[in-house]
Amino acid sequence: MTNFDLEKMVDTSDEWIRTRTGISQRHIVSENEATSDLSTRVAEQLLEKRGISADEIDIIIIATCTPDHFAPSTAALVQNNIGATNAWGFDLSAACSGYLYALETGNKFISSGQYKKVMVIGVDTMSSILDFTDRDVCVLFGDGAGGAILEPTKSEGGIFDSILLMDGSGGDSLIMPGGGSRMPATIETIKSKQHFLKQDGKKIFKYAVKGMAEVSERILDKNNLTGDDISLFIPHQANKRIIDAAAKRCNISENKVLINIDRFGNTTAGTIPIAMNEAVADGRIKNGDTILLAAFGAGFTWGSMLIKWDSIF
Ligand code: UT7
Repeated sequence: MTNFDLEKMVDTSDEWIRTRTGISQRHIVSENEATSDLSTRVAEQLLEKRGISADEIDIIIIATCTPDHFAPSTAALVQNNIGATNAWGFDLSAACSGYLYALETGNKFISSGQYKKVMVIGVDTMSSILDFTDRDVCVLFGDGAGGAILEPTKSEGGIFDSILLMDGSGGDSLIMPGGGSRMPATIETIKSKQHFLKQDGKKIFKYAVKGMAEVSERILDKNNLTGDDISLFIPHQANKRIIDAAAKRCNISENKVLINIDRFGNTTAGTIPIAMNEAVADGRIKNGDTILLAAFGAGFTWGSMLIKWDSIF
């Protein structure tokens, strides 16, 4: 869906969206396609690439705020779709920070020594909770998914630090009020559009710039690193202006910042794994590289992570 498509739906313009957010287009699922379908395709691609069968997976973690259902979990649907007969798993809800939270969770399961293969997927079908008459929100988001299989390594590589944070006092700033136990669906809640995402864009912008920059600076300082030591900065893709401000504050030069928001929009938990997958595919990430990840989103949730890239591919 391009900005020009949106021009026909709401009072907006390609120029406004590009200059305010950096987005030119986003992907929207087909009719009848949901979060478990996107996740299953990622899971199948991961298994194929790794050359293993689904029964080797120990745990499936699906980071999403747009699950197919409250129950069963999307993880259970994916487990069944791919035939991961030895896996257990769960959905993890942390909005735009979901993939970082899920990577850290998976990392700890691997570090425990008890599990050998943890599949982590970041996915959101944001179009299912967007009001396509609300120009403040609908132009920003897209649907998408990506993921990884985490495994133990004898090398020095892997996730070597993370800082994950939460401040629930910001909860009302980015919220889908209806549909949960607080406001179950009724004719009235549907009529008043409580089942769509609502946001205070200006407030989130301010907190996101500050939060993402501070937590990135903090993890660099903690590890005696500077922006120069980073091979690639892969931030959550919510607004190009937020990314630019965070990168500038951490002294990370522009050519080391991965930006793909122009083609995908904000896919919430999907942004970081999609960007990582692209960076691996086009050779921008190589083994031994030091990668900085950072995200900020609803909750508020935010965080940063350092990875010494160590892939078997
Ligand atoms: O992962 C976290 C998810 N959310 C975010 O990260 C959102 C963070 N916030 C943002 O990215 C920015 O605040 C926005 C992109 C949402 C808005 O950018 P802004 O520079 O803060 O614009 P604004 O809200 O100050 O609006 C400027 C003007 C307003 O008109 P007036 O009052 O100046 O006449 C808006 O009504 O732009 C208007 N506007 C639009 N115009 C065309 C708001 N949305 C649109 C639109 N198209 N889609």
